[in-house]
Amino acid sequence: MSSHPRHPVLVASNRGPVSFGIGDDGALTARRGGGGMVSGLSSALAANATGRPQQAHGAGGPALWVCAAMSDADRAAAGHGVVATGESPGDVPVLMLDIPPATFEAAYNGIANSVLWFVQHLLFDTPNQPHFGPRFRTDWAAYAEYNAAFAAALVEQAAEESKILIQDYHLALAPRQVRDLRPEARIAHFSHTPWAPPAYFRLLPDDVATALLDGMLGADHLGFLAGRWADAFLACCAEVLGAEVAGRRVTYRGRTTTVAVHPLGVDVQSLRERATHDDVQAHKAALRAQSGDRQLIVRVDRTELSKNIVRGLAAFRELLESQPAWRGRVSHLAFAYPSRSSIPEYQAYTQKVGQVAAEINEQFATPDWTPVVLEVKDDYARSLAACSVADVLLINPIRDGMNLVAEEGPILSERGCALVLSREAGAASLIGDEALLVNPYDICATATALQEALCMPVAERRRRSAAIAAAAAGAAPAQWLAAQLEGLS
Ligand code: G6P
Repeated sequence: MSSHPRHPVLVASNRGPVSFGIGDDGALTARRGGGGMVSGLSSALAANATGRPQQAHGAGGPALWVCAAMSDADRAAAGHGVVATGESPGDVPVLMLDIPPATFEAAYNGIANSVLWFVQHLLFDTPNQPHFGPRFRTDWAAYAEYNAAFAAALVEQAAEESKILIQDYHLALAPRQVRDLRPEARIAHFSHTPWAPPAYFRLLPDDVATALLDGMLGADHLGFLAGRWADAFLACCAEVLGAEVAGRRVTYRGRTTTVAVHPLGVDVQSLRERATHDDVQAHKAALRAQSGDRQLIVRVDRTELSKNIVRGLAAFRELLESQPAWRGRVSHLAFAYPSRSSIPEYQAYTQKVGQVAAEINEQFATPDWTPVVLEVKDDYARSLAACSVADVLLINPIRDGMNLVAEEGPILSERGCALVLSREAGAASLIGDEALLVNPYDICATATALQEALCMPVAERRRRSAAIAAAAAGAAPAQWLAAQLEGLS
């Protein structure tokens, strides 16, 4: 057993709160990691570390965040052991694992991104994919090895009383692997994605489907962002694994695991504070100057297949076609930032987003009006600025674990924004009453919702945005974290 009783809380995730680069002078530079999982957890741990008022009881003590080194610069940083960079919110110390590059690549891109993400978001073009041949088997072995590297590091760092919080589909086997090494460990696993229903989960080879479910059931407590995802997981346990499911408790191999729903909100105060900084204010002024008195439909996403950006653009085109009065009076600011660009499906999708945006502009633009302003360079300050000036926020994923932008946009919007939200986003169960919910595949219905949103009186937009902010505050990251820790007491 380890002799480091200094980390009452251990967090494990593939991507950490920081990533490193190598500057011109050869020195390592740290920057904030991206994505919903990292931003939610970072904010929760920061509140925990600084003891801000919303800190919920039971969260106590300094955490250690264990993550994978994802680049050569990260690997160089990993050589220094546990690092506190000052870039990690609340300065949570970070331990980066230097997993052999080929193992990492096969586990991360081969399995997590190309198989598990696709399963949980129902993304396969099933007449052609998936194709589970020998290559898949090698990648799967690497995935198990990668999980084992995390399990070993966690056991090495954990004190007897440590609570171990494992995140997401990258690490579905790790709970069981930690349990095998340390039978008394207190382990929670949290899924930031949706969960597929059994009929779709069964696409996976039987042994793989079983290993994933069994791996997660090595935990004492499993968390999901929405009731639908928790229920789908339970259905898989019953139907695929044959486990005993009673309410939200699963008994398998002689142990019982509790399953709970912990929706993730936003630290409203610190988000609003961040938006007062000069960089955001400068972007806001520029966006205002660019748009004049036109209304703005804003979207902010990483370019994921699941985000449904192309159908969002198609709905905007449909609005301009069916309601010509909007031409020249509304612009669509679409921020679609790079993601997982080594995966061929993502490359093709990114290209399609650019192509459809260009086609719309070709069809409708006038000398003083650009219908679609597509920005692909990730800029956090500009994203916050766009949310502040949005009249309408369009969030139409095919499926999404939660979607924090659906909460952040209304929180930041200065005149209140109308939210057009996919009913397939986990956020719909937290704030859906205040949004215009759409079927993400229905382009005409999405165009109609955009029209309704553009016509919504400002007072009504403000009322709804305030209600969304209140709901998001009620599920603030610190509470979300505390609920998981409580699930382990
Ligand atoms: C988003 C998802 C998480 C996921 C993360 C990793 O944040 O909500 O569920 O863990 O992306 O994606 P990445 O591209 O950073 O590996």
